[in-house]
Amino acid sequence: MSSLVVLSNEKGFNLARRTAYLLNAEFAVVEQKTFPDGELYLRIPLDVRGKIVVPVWSIKEEINNDLVSLMLVLDTLWDLGAKKVISVVPYMPYARQDSRFKDGEALSIVTIAKLLRAVHSDYVVTVDMHLHRIGDPRFVFGEKIINVSGVDAIADYIKNRHPQLGGKAIVVGPDEESEQWASRLGMLLGLKWVVLEKERYSAEEVEVKLRESMPREAEKAIIIDDIISTGGTIESTVNLIRKLGLNEIYVYCTHPVLSASGLYKIASLGLADYACTNTLPSPISTIDVSGVLASSIKNLA
Ligand code: R5P
Repeated sequence: MSSLVVLSNEKGFNLARRTAYLLNAEFAVVEQKTFPDGELYLRIPLDVRGKIVVPVWSIKEEINNDLVSLMLVLDTLWDLGAKKVISVVPYMPYARQDSRFKDGEALSIVTIAKLLRAVHSDYVVTVDMHLHRIGDPRFVFGEKIINVSGVDAIADYIKNRHPQLGGKAIVVGPDEESEQWASRLGMLLGLKWVVLEKERYSAEEVEVKLRESMPREAEKAIIIDDIISTGGTIESTVNLIRKLGLNEIYVYCTHPVLSASGLYKIASLGLADYACTNTLPSPISTIDVSGVLASSIKNLA
């Protein structure tokens, strides 16, 4: 195999450095500055000619800047003679706009996919991509996208950290789309799972309802979702579960987007534990997904 180089933006540093270590690859952070007019300056600080290059780009908060910086990096890598480029976009932004909910809306994720294809990456690896209407990311990105899951790492974390969480716990998915994560986590932990029904009234206001009865033996709940953004979904789910008499509640998710007062909301809920994976940096990104990324990259390199 040709030599491997892992690059990252500042936000991807922790995840990328761990991934590079597991791959025994060279590692560097791409130099990035912002000019006074808002334009970005990017520089790749090592020689990539003839190498397999893996840019790990965590996209959060300044989403549009992060996307443009990724495009600049991808195009520059080809120009500098990289042999193969495997982009890792652990959290794919704009994926929630995968449908035209009102006439005239942009199909944002389709445009993002076109832009990423235009700058050319041999493969794009992402984690638990949120494509609820479309389902399979390959319908938008083509065959060269690999969607891995953070749920196995979440299960390992729970087993190590809370080995006492046994038969009396139930896994809860807040909405229909979370069934894939709730069922996988339930299977890995040997627990039953239930999936709720969710209605969203505004960015922060959601209502969840039971769509089947809660198993009688359940005394504790483990809520799993792909994203925590404003925290509205988790707050409503916790309130419902408490009304049902389950007071020991654990919350886990893949992507800590944590917009608005999301982190504050989660921290105020009196949870037994809460944590997310390190696809995005945050004070609660304590579950490491570098292992799953490294395995996927090894298969593609
Ligand atoms: C939505 O379908 C997602 O799976 C998450 O439930 C949602 O993005 C969470 O957002 P928030 O924290 O703002 O409720």
